[in-house]
Amino acid sequence: MNDTFLRACRGEEVDYTPVWLMRQAGRYLPEYQAVRAHVDFLTLCKNPKLAAEVTLQPVDILGVDAAILFSDILIPLEPMGMRLEFSEKEGPILSEPVRSKSAVERLIIPDVEEDLPFVFDTIRILRKELEHKVPLIGFAGAPFTLATYMIEGGTSKNFLNTKKLMFQNSAVFSYLMEKITDTVTAYLLSQIKAGAQAVQIFDSWAGILTPVDYRKFAFPFVKKAILELKKAGVPIIYFVNNCAGILKEVRQSGADVIGIDWRIDIADAIKKLGKKIVVQGNLDPCALFLPKEKLEERVKDILWKGGAAKNHIFNLGHGILPQTPVENVIAMVEAVHTYGRNA
Ligand code: CP3
Repeated sequence: MNDTFLRACRGEEVDYTPVWLMRQAGRYLPEYQAVRAHVDFLTLCKNPKLAAEVTLQPVDILGVDAAILFSDILIPLEPMGMRLEFSEKEGPILSEPVRSKSAVERLIIPDVEEDLPFVFDTIRILRKELEHKVPLIGFAGAPFTLATYMIEGGTSKNFLNTKKLMFQNSAVFSYLMEKITDTVTAYLLSQIKAGAQAVQIFDSWAGILTPVDYRKFAFPFVKKAILELKKAGVPIIYFVNNCAGILKEVRQSGADVIGIDWRIDIADAIKKLGKKIVVQGNLDPCALFLPKEKLEERVKDILWKGGAAKNHIFNLGHGILPQTPVENVIAMVEAVHTYGRNA
């Protein structure tokens, strides 16, 4: 197996800069669309054979250095007792949002292996399929990001319901966060047990908080989960979208790798994170729409700056967009492999 990605996560010497992409399996790939034409998104997530198939697509098509399990961060919310749907237009919908003490009390901390067997079956299939290829990344949503979906009932603009619960009823908010933290920790430990060789925690919405609120309402929970997960011995990646204002805190999370978005210069992020942390990122997903020479320039700039970190794993600063031309993604991966570390 090509273990360059895992070596990079652990801060070991690597021959070249590894690369993978957030949302690398998805609608920009015609091969994904062909599978999705026959099944809806949740059915796809729950069918181990198909989920494994779409996980593998980008590994072969793009030549990336890691596979990421095909699933969604919202999947564990169903066994917690929430009704989840995906609408083509609006994205995820949780029809009974959690905004009161009684709603939090009703939430279940699920037996993940019993309730989500398809996730672990998918991982087991993938480890066999990937044996001579690349490592498999498991993932979950960070407690705060999952809390926003549970409280808002979907995606949000101002996150007012979330902040109202935080500010007006912080005991209930903390109670909710504790239940999510326990679920996420158990869920990731089971993914690791099934064969995930690294795990990424997605904090897509942590960046909507003031640094003071992040420190109080989000950070202690994700830190607790990371501390617990570290015992399992696989690399932990913590991706924080809109991270610039909270890097000082994020640095203390205990994660082996910090994933950063594109709004901060990677050189500045490395200065703030220090030399002990491996950095992952951070090409603007829209840069994949640039003409090839300009795209290559940006890739080289990030690679050059990434050289200052303990190790650098190339990625986008957030998920790839559905409209992205596949040939540009292939060109990007090639550019990283051509111009990266030790090239
Ligand atoms: O990275 C991968 O290739 C693995 C698969 C993966 C998906 N979602 C598949 C998906 C991963 C790692 C996620 C994480 C996820 N899901 C996050 C965190 C990352 C981020 O983007 O911030 C979040 C916030 C979600 C919740 C979610 N799922 C939303 C808001 C949406 C709708 C918007 C959208 O992009 O469509 C989804 C749907 C979703 N998750 C799709 C895929 C491939 C599209 C579904 C389809 O096929 O129609």
